[in-house]
Amino acid sequence: MEKELIGKVALITGGTKGIGRAIAERLSEAGALVIVTARTRPIETHTKHHFIAADLTIAAQTDKMVNEINEKFGSIDILVNNMGGSTSPSGGFGALTDAHWENDLQLNLQSAVRIDRAILPQMVEKKSGVIIHISSVTGTLPVYQSLGGYAVAKAALNNYSKSLSKEFSPKGIRVATVSPGMVKTDTMDAYLQSLAKTSDLSIEQVTLDLMDSLGGIPLGRMALPQEIAELVGFLVSPKASYITGVNYIVDGGSNPSL
Ligand SMILES: NC(=O)c1ccc[n+]([C@@H]2O[C@H](COP(=O)([O-])OP(=O)(O)OC[C@H]3O[C@@H](n4cnc5c(N)ncnc54)[C@H](OP(=O)(O)O)[C@@H]3O)[C@@H](O)[C@H]2O)c1
Repeated sequence: MEKELIGKVALITGGTKGIGRAIAERLSEAGALVIVTARTRPIETHTKHHFIAADLTIAAQTDKMVNEINEKFGSIDILVNNMGGSTSPSGGFGALTDAHWENDLQLNLQSAVRIDRAILPQMVEKKSGVIIHISSVTGTLPVYQSLGGYAVAKAALNNYSKSLSKEFSPKGIRVATVSPGMVKTDTMDAYLQSLAKTSDLSIEQVTLDLMDSLGGIPLGRMALPQEIAELVGFLVSPKASYITGVNYIVDGGSNPSL
């Protein structure tokens, strides 16, 4: 792999598991100094990434994290807002309380907004930087039965990311969105297991049902985290120097719209 990110400092939120961990590996292989954040320190003691603990749904912890990064590493060149997800129950509209909606918005939109707000001034000063928001295919293809609040929060993230690119691309900062479909992570496995348990169906059946709710997956399988990380690796590299304001849907062909 070309070491095209040597000298760059990259922050990947939620970089200890799943897609975020694969992105951290990919950017590290390309030569970046990689900082990962999560609430829990990863078990692997030999991890080569710098780890900072923070719950990014809490504003004070975000501020503390950014101060620690500024003190230890100076400014960030690449920010991947990967952390996100949902703890809301399935069951459609009626199953969601105010607290579920608030939590989905905090996890998938407001946490990213807060970090961008803290990091962008440094990028503006340097007139360079790349921000990636990891969204979801559900941001453009709602799956109301089980992911209502999450899908709405990701749709808001898409809109926010686009508007950020309009405002900051003229200042030298590229902003892009990556929207995966189903990705085979531990969290996805746990989600499928819980769906199987509540519906009394097999894991294979709920997996097929979830694929069907997306309109099927023409490539016939979930993505691997590394397949999402490869796109992010390209987008943050100098090779993507003319790319900003886009939302790349990486869903194996599910989304039916152009
Ligand atoms: N997996 C999929 O199929 C899929 C599909 C479409 C989009 N996505 C999106 O891709 C992104 C990554 O998903 P994933 O499935 O790879 O996630 P994951 O495996 O569940 O990992 C989530 C990461 O975020 C951290 N995290 C969770 N809550 C946090 C909080 N409140 N504060 C700080 N860190 C927190 C986790 O560590 P701790 O638990 O230790 O905090 C972990 O490092 C998310 O934005 C998700 O919406 C995923």
